[in-house]
Amino acid sequence: MTESNQEYSDGHEQQRRESQLTQTALSSFNNAQNSRLKLLMTRLTRHLHEFVREVRLTEKEWRVAIEFLTEVGHATDSDRQEFILLSDVLGVSMQTVMVNNEAHSSATEATVFGPFYVENSPLVELGGDISGGAPGRPCWIEGRITSTDGSPVPGARIEVWEADENGLYDVQYPDRRVAGRAHLLADDEGRYSFWGLTPTPYPIPCDGPVGQLLEATRRSPMRASHLHFMVTAPGKRTLATHIFVQGDKYLETDSVFGVRKSLIVDFIEMPNNSIPPGGRETIASGWTSARFDIVLSTSASQVT
Ligand SMILES: [Fe+2]
Repeated sequence: MTESNQEYSDGHEQQRRESQLTQTALSSFNNAQNSRLKLLMTRLTRHLHEFVREVRLTEKEWRVAIEFLTEVGHATDSDRQEFILLSDVLGVSMQTVMVNNEAHSSATEATVFGPFYVENSPLVELGGDISGGAPGRPCWIEGRITSTDGSPVPGARIEVWEADENGLYDVQYPDRRVAGRAHLLADDEGRYSFWGLTPTPYPIPCDGPVGQLLEATRRSPMRASHLHFMVTAPGKRTLATHIFVQGDKYLETDSVFGVRKSLIVDFIEMPNNSIPPGGRETIASGWTSARFDIVLSTSASQVT
C-alpha cells in the first residue's frame, strides 16, 4: 500500500479535540471555593464554547467581537454605562428582571429599572405635580396599592420618574434641575394620585457602539412611551416597573424588551373644558388621565 499525500478532514477527530478543550476549560474551575462562582463560570464557559462551535466562529469575527467590547468599555464612564445598554438591547437585563421577579398570583409585573433613577427625589403631596416645570402634556395618574389578597398597603412609598416631551430626563438637562420625578406616600386606603406628563417615546443613547450594533441589525433605538414606578412597603417585594401607553407605536419594538402586556394602560384624552382634579385650573391644551392599580407580593423573607 502506497502512502497517499491527499489531505482529508477528520470530522471525528475534530469533534473530539473541540470537546476535549471544553472539558479542560471547565475542569480548570474545579478548585473554586465559592460554589456559586464555580457554577456561574463553568456554565458561562460551556455556553460560550457551544456558541463558538455552533456558529463556527472565524478568527476575524472573534477579533471584531473583542474590538466591539473594547469600544463598549471606552464608551463607558461615570455618566454613561454602555455595558448595561448592551445588556438591555440583548434582552439580558429584562430576562434577569424576569428571573428575579417570579410570577406570583395577581402581583404587578416588574420591568427594567433603567439608568435614570435618582435617589432622594422630592416628596410631592398626593394630587400634587411631579413635573417640576418640565415640558409636556399634563397627565393625571391615580391608583391604589394593594396586597395580593386585596388589602390596601397604606403608606407605601411610590417613586415616579419620567422623560419630558422631548424625551429627556432631568439628569440630561444641562442645569441638572429636578423635574419629572418625585416620591409620594399612599394614603390609609393605599390610594395615590399625582399630576405628571403624558409619556412620550425616546431613543436610548445610540451614538456609541451599541447604537452601531442596532443600526447594523436594522433595529430601532426607540423605547415605547412609559413612566417609571418603584414601590416599596415593609414586608412587600420591592416593585420596579413602568406603565406603557395603549396605542403607542413602539410597544412591539421596544428596544430593551421592557413592555409587558399587563402594564399597558389607557391614557384617556380629556377635553380642555373638563375640570382637572387636584384643584388644578382648566388646561387649554387638554390633558390625559390614566389609572394604574398596583399589587405587591409579599417579600421572600415574609413568605411562610
Ligand atoms: Fe425610561
